[in-house]
Amino acid sequence: MTARIAPSVLSADFRTLGADIAMCDAGGADWIHVDVMDGRFVPSLSFGAKVIEAARRSSTKVIDVHLMVVEPERYFDDFVKAGADVLTIHAEAVPHLDRQLMRIKELGCKAGVALNPATPLSAIEEIVHLLDLVLIMSVNPGYGGQKFIEYSVDKIERARFLLDQAGSDAALEVDGGISRDTIARCWEAGADTFVAGNAIFSAANPQAEIGVLRGLCAARV
Ligand code: DX5
Ligand code: ZN
Repeated sequence: MTARIAPSVLSADFRTLGADIAMCDAGGADWIHVDVMDGRFVPSLSFGAKVIEAARRSSTKVIDVHLMVVEPERYFDDFVKAGADVLTIHAEAVPHLDRQLMRIKELGCKAGVALNPATPLSAIEEIVHLLDLVLIMSVNPGYGGQKFIEYSVDKIERARFLLDQAGSDAALEVDGGISRDTIARCWEAGADTFVAGNAIFSAANPQAEIGVLRGLCAARV
């Protein structure tokens, strides 16, 4: 397989959001990553269903929605209606992960769990079989453009082991500080899907950068 690259809309130019998303789509992005923030789970506010809808209309790729919110279940219906293909909720925000993952699946959507840097992998051990995606946060969530946390690489390796042991084919995604300097190490550790905001949208040629990042991950069988 080759690495999947998921440009993060958070770093796009909001004056030309639809065009930026379409540009990533045409540039070979595999997924479009949409960060929803509520000012409670994380300090900042971002956007909701309207932007998911805009992403859906601007791209034919997988719309990968990362919910950095408390009580995420309040938004499942609206976000699926808006066109989300994957909904990822944070283990730290949800006391009833099993129930919420089942609800997402009932809506016909793929379900993921995200783990903050300080959250141990054991938070998902019992429910691996319910997961379509595991998201390892390699920064503390809330902002684009932060520095990659080095100890995430070891966690990715252990997450890969956990998924393989369980016979799971869930995607293993990394989010935060992914760049030319960090992507290869995460790929080698076993991640297959890479969110990149700053690295793509601050590049002189964002479309070419998608290919550069993917190219740093050698194909694996
Ligand atoms: C961080 C968000 C990320 C962010 C990544 O809280 O979840 O998706 O957009 O941005 P970069 O790639 O700039 O670290
Ligand atoms: Zn994200």
